[in-house]
Amino acid sequence: MMEVCHERAEFSAACERARGEGGRVGLVPTMGALHAGHLSLARAARRDGADFVALTIFVNPLQFAPGEDLDRYPRTLEADLDACRELGVDLVFAPARDAMYPAGFQTEVRVTGITRQLEGEHRPGHFDGVTTVVAKLFANTGRCHAYFGRKDFQQWRIVERMARDLDLPVDVVGMPIVREADGLALSSRNRYLSSDERERALGIARGLRSAHDAWQAGTRHADALSKLVRQEVEPAFDRIDYVALASPDTLERVDGEVNEGVLLIAAHVGKTRLIDNLWLGVDTRP
Ligand code: PAJ
Repeated sequence: MMEVCHERAEFSAACERARGEGGRVGLVPTMGALHAGHLSLARAARRDGADFVALTIFVNPLQFAPGEDLDRYPRTLEADLDACRELGVDLVFAPARDAMYPAGFQTEVRVTGITRQLEGEHRPGHFDGVTTVVAKLFANTGRCHAYFGRKDFQQWRIVERMARDLDLPVDVVGMPIVREADGLALSSRNRYLSSDERERALGIARGLRSAHDAWQAGTRHADALSKLVRQEVEPAFDRIDYVALASPDTLERVDGEVNEGVLLIAAHVGKTRLIDNLWLGVDTRP
């Protein structure tokens, strides 16, 4: 029987109990509106040997800037619970805002360096909101393996950095991006897209695909690889925040001839902002 709880104390106690029985806890933090990408993380947790899989659903106001989509972010709790039940998740923690941020809350967890560029540059304060809520989730879960998608590549690296720097008893695991058959990366925000916008959004997958093929064929020049993505994204999107080839460890941009790198994109189609990436030499063809 899947447990559902809304209070931090209940959540912590359930994780504690699972560990007390000798179980390993696998944690999957989400904002809900679950899709196959989220569910792949819960599956990975189980496959890696978690005896107790806990999935959290919380649309974290701290990581949305004024004017972003906090108010219209999809909330589909009943369908999310059904999906979790079907998958065999053990516990869903779905706190209300006040349960996470009671009156008087005034602490922020901030990772420096790796947060400055790319998403950090275009969404000031966003990662501080992410690391603050994830630190709280880690504190409430206790010792665990925590699963993150490489869809949010920079977020994954930042959370890993935070866990290491703060000596948190959490092993952070990054899992590959789950895509639709036509290459579109699954995202809760895809439901904002009209059918025309969805068609245009495929420019990203096309661009990443040609960069993937060029990499396989031996192309190593940063500009050449970025250009292959830009060529597909520029005509289809209304605005590009960045197309960048970066180090998978530091997220700093790399140039010239490279022997590793992740191609990262953020771009707007209509009112929707999409992000995607390809870890060259590691990810399969988008
Ligand atoms: P959310 O966007 O709901 O994503 C939850 C997790 O699912 C993240 O680790 C994200 O990278 C992963 N994910 C999303 N789409 C994916 C896809 N197509 N393939 C694989 N994984 C995918 O990321 C957040 O929530 C929040 O910032 C959170 C970490 C929960 C903190 O509030």
